[in-house]
Amino acid sequence: MGNKIAIIGVGHVGSTVATNIVTAGIAQELYLIDEQDKIARADEFDLFDQQAYLDTTTRVKFIPYHDDWAALRDVDVIVFAAGNIKIVLGNPNDKSNNRVGELSNSARIVREVGPRIKASGFHGTMVCISNPCDVITQLMQKVTGLPKQSVLGTGTSLDTARLHRAVAVALGVSISDVAGYVIGEHGETQFAAWSSVSVNGRPMTKIAQEAGLDLDDLETQARMGGHVVGLGKGFTNYGIGMTALTIVKAVVNDEHRTFPATSYDDHFGVYIGHPTTVGAAGVLAQPALDLTADEETKYQKSAAAIKHNLESVK
Ligand SMILES: NC(=O)c1ccc[n+]([C@@H]2O[C@H](COP(=O)([O-])OP(=O)(O)OC[C@H]3O[C@@H](n4cnc5c(N)ncnc54)[C@H](O)[C@@H]3O)[C@@H](O)[C@H]2O)c1
Repeated sequence: MGNKIAIIGVGHVGSTVATNIVTAGIAQELYLIDEQDKIARADEFDLFDQQAYLDTTTRVKFIPYHDDWAALRDVDVIVFAAGNIKIVLGNPNDKSNNRVGELSNSARIVREVGPRIKASGFHGTMVCISNPCDVITQLMQKVTGLPKQSVLGTGTSLDTARLHRAVAVALGVSISDVAGYVIGEHGETQFAAWSSVSVNGRPMTKIAQEAGLDLDDLETQARMGGHVVGLGKGFTNYGIGMTALTIVKAVVNDEHRTFPATSYDDHFGVYIGHPTTVGAAGVLAQPALDLTADEETKYQKSAAAIKHNLESVK
């Protein structure tokens, strides 16, 4: 039997994840659910039209929002991307791009859809994207009652891609030559774990010293890059769209691939972005990093910030 994937929230991000899934040909069936039925229905048609020029087939099915969601019972992966990006990026006077602004709205949506996901009998893996990603992933796990292993979020995977871009541009190398992670909150307290970053097998700390590059400056460039995208077009979609596809693929193909996804950190009692190995059973492992003392402190601060935001919606 082929893979079944569902997307809840088919806005800028959800629709980009949908087209990526169809183009990659990794699902036999793709379900689309959005509070605005007309959007999900439009994408059902559009994503079918796209397949006239593909050599793979994905049966795309829109599920009306107020209908029964029983079809979710047999789905392998649910991507959660519901929200309202205008709350944070629609205000021209607010250039902070602070994802916490969406917290109460995203939490309200989780409380609305979580029980319906649970009632469907869904027992696959959930990949959460909606912001603030760490808190929303934790809330989703709680509301659905799914095992912690089965619920994860994209976490700092997109921020890591942005860091790789900044390093690649500074050194004139390919983005895929850069390895290592941004970890912590997908938000203001995230940080580049430079001790984990390497380029073509050499530690970035050493390369930066030799080349006279300022690591703080590179980290700022990565962060600012995110602002250029978000504030420039009012949403972000391509970077997160490929990030989400890659994580979903790791689940459906049981790849045992590691991402700085947000997964439950037992020690701090929160979902937080750190290396997370993903496969068919969801979170398979959380490989530890050899962080410096300074990085450990930043991670603790980040966990505390997530916990603080979580308390406000408990
Ligand atoms: N984690 C990341 O790295 C990352 C990156 C980009 C965006 N995001 C987040 O992803 C979310 C979606 O972003 P976007 O740009 O697509 O936003 P958007 O406003 O374009 O789309 C959100 C969609 O969710 C739908 N929706 C609202 N309430 C719903 C409900 N109860 N059930 C089902 N659908 C519902 C809306 O109708 C809309 O189509 C936001 O929270 C955004 O901040 C996260």
